[in-house]
Amino acid sequence: MKKNIVLIGFMGSGKSSVGKILAKKMDRVFLDLDEWIERKEGLKISKIFEKNGEQYFRALEKEAVRFVSSYENRVITTGGGVVLDPENLENLRQNGIIVSLIATPETIFERVKNSKHRPLLDVDDKLEKIRKLYDERISLYQKADYQFKTDGLAAQEVAGLIFDKLNHELS
Ligand code: S3P
Repeated sequence: MKKNIVLIGFMGSGKSSVGKILAKKMDRVFLDLDEWIERKEGLKISKIFEKNGEQYFRALEKEAVRFVSSYENRVITTGGGVVLDPENLENLRQNGIIVSLIATPETIFERVKNSKHRPLLDVDDKLEKIRKLYDERISLYQKADYQFKTDGLAAQEVAGLIFDKLNHELS
């Protein structure tokens, strides 16, 4: 059995683009938790927030984490808020190595400023909201087994760094 590689990190830290590249490099199936929830519910995340609110989404997210934690040998990417419930990280860790992608609020702002599909950032002052959530969450992202800074790096480069590190450590 090979443990999953689970990417966590703030919105815009690069999880999805890095995860897809990493999965190819490692010849693993790629699974994005938010896409999994969207397929199961038949609704986009933003619609789920709009219709039923954040708490409801968190319950779906928790259920999805429980389910996908039983998989193996995948690259799994998660939504930025997955770390808010400590049980999620515990579950993901059962069968996974947790890798955190870290970027400064300013980098994140540049990456997400034109994005329309992130309900938590649907506010007038995006940068302020990013800073607030970042301060609340940074210590949670730091609970990962490995951390990578992604500021100024292309997804390909970050995937390369993770690949080299994990190949080395796990071989
Ligand atoms: C969220 C991040 C989003 C998505 C939802 C909530 C968060 O995923 O799960 O909008 O709380 O940070 P991304 O990190 O992929 O944007």
